[in-house]
Amino acid sequence: MERLKQAIVERGIVLSEHVLKVDTFLNHQIDTGLMAAVGEEFARIFQQDGITKVLTIESSGIAPSFMAASKLEVPLVFARKRKSLTMDEHVYASRVYSFTKRTESEIAVSKDFLASGDRVLILDDFLANGQAAKGLIEIVEKAEAVVAGVGIVIEKSFQPGREQLINSGYRVESLARVASLENGRVTFVESEAP
Ligand code: G4P
Ligand code: NA
Ligand code: NA
Repeated sequence: MERLKQAIVERGIVLSEHVLKVDTFLNHQIDTGLMAAVGEEFARIFQQDGITKVLTIESSGIAPSFMAASKLEVPLVFARKRKSLTMDEHVYASRVYSFTKRTESEIAVSKDFLASGDRVLILDDFLANGQAAKGLIEIVEKAEAVVAGVGIVIEKSFQPGREQLINSGYRVESLARVASLENGRVTFVESEAP
């Protein structure tokens, strides 16, 4: 998605070879016009897939997911992060290890908001090691619902998340695929020739 790539290049900050800061439009301040366009693009990509729910994870997944769910005319559900691993019979939960933060947390979705028969589009802002996506997939599968696909705003293609999800048989659609953050520069995966 050209407009997104342009925002990444012009307004993103390469913090290190592994971390891209996008606080100006996605992770702190939200560029509402850009996020609306991002959501519309997800809706366009998945419009034929019979999606019944969009599932993301708080907090940064919510903004780009909102317009996608709105355009697809389905509810948006976001998994909550829980600090204490309290027992709760009424949620689907999974553990997510963050390599970036070196912490394990639990994410959970109420059983009221996912059911067998749902075709779920999983969306998130970043795909790095794929731990968040895997946690969301586990929750969908605990609900005996179907993962129709995984949509990502910014994929760091040099980290293993995408390949692991594809190898596990999931469809992954990323709007921007970052090939490298070396030398303080963002380069993208070459898109297929038209
Ligand atoms: P993974 O889910 O793909 O394994 O990623 P990881 O654990 O490494 O990521 C932990 C958090 O850091 C996630 O946000 C993720 O979106 C974010 N993240 C990963 N790589 C980058 C990056 O290069 N730039 C930015 N800006 N964020 C990155 P989170 O903890 O779920 O927080 P929230 O922002 O959703 O509240
Ligand atoms: Na996120
Ligand atoms: Na994040």
